[in-house]
Amino acid sequence: MRSGGLDDSDLYTYTSITLYMMIPLTIIGLRFQNAPYGKHYRTGWGPTISPPLAWFLMESPTLWLTILLYPLGRHSSHPLPFFLTSLYVIHYINRTIIYPLRQKTVSKSQFPISIALQAFLFNILNAYTQTRSISHYRPDEDIRQVLVRFVLGGGLFVWGMWVNITSDAELLRLRKKGKGKYVVPMGGWFDYVTCPNYMGETVEWLGWSIMCWSPAAFGFFLFTCANLGMRAASSRKWYLEKFADEFPAERMAFVPLLY
Ligand SMILES: NC(=O)c1ccc[n+]([C@@H]2O[C@H](COP(=O)([O-])OP(=O)(O)OC[C@H]3O[C@@H](n4cnc5c(N)ncnc54)[C@H](OP(=O)(O)O)[C@@H]3O)[C@@H](O)[C@H]2O)c1
Repeated sequence: MRSGGLDDSDLYTYTSITLYMMIPLTIIGLRFQNAPYGKHYRTGWGPTISPPLAWFLMESPTLWLTILLYPLGRHSSHPLPFFLTSLYVIHYINRTIIYPLRQKTVSKSQFPISIALQAFLFNILNAYTQTRSISHYRPDEDIRQVLVRFVLGGGLFVWGMWVNITSDAELLRLRKKGKGKYVVPMGGWFDYVTCPNYMGETVEWLGWSIMCWSPAAFGFFLFTCANLGMRAASSRKWYLEKFADEFPAERMAFVPLLY
């Protein structure tokens, strides 16, 4: 496959390297600036759109690009790559379609187009890298070789997805109940971490990377740790400032008892 004069294996190498380079850059960038959407929204980032529309547009490459690229891979007819890609697609059907539909009548915040564009470009890079990694560049494996990895990784993936979806649902319920006001969430994993939705999502990609066992998938997991870990820390600081009397100071940001 040729792309813009580049050999596909070169392109895959460059996107994989970029994914890894984005990990320290994200940590450094987010130390100085939160992504200005949701509770961290602030003016000065250009025109905005509604959060559900932003989520739908910026996450969409994870569906259309993945579905377009997957069949071009030399392992695309093998059941294991198909299974791994299906898990990725299931996660993003929720994030791209179901989550914005649930958020539609609830979210009152604004989303800068400039931030949505950055996320859109990241999703193009990541969907390309993950899909080519799974369907083309990963060695073909037999299910007996990967059983332990699939049981462990699959368990983490399912548990993480459950925590992510139920925590997002609880936040949306509170947002609706509070008629657009932010409140301090209580109960369940919220008693241990400020952002269990971020924790759940990160555990999902940990489980998935154990199943994939590829540099591309581990790169995505590490990027998610960097991005959501930093944002969880900013959110904890935001709650402590905004709800000084209500927010339990011992509640961690992202990892129970640790961080
Ligand atoms: N893989 C990645 O790198 C990545 C990056 C970003 C996000 N995500 C995922 O995308 C999802 C959404 O992310 P997000 O950053 O928008 O999450 P978030 O800040 O926790 O917001 C989730 C929803 O809950 C509402 N909400 C948040 N805190 C609330 C509170 N204290 N009281 C009432 N309502 C509250 C928000 O309303 P408003 O919209 O009005 O603020 C929003 O609609 C999460 O599941 C996250 O894991 C993944």
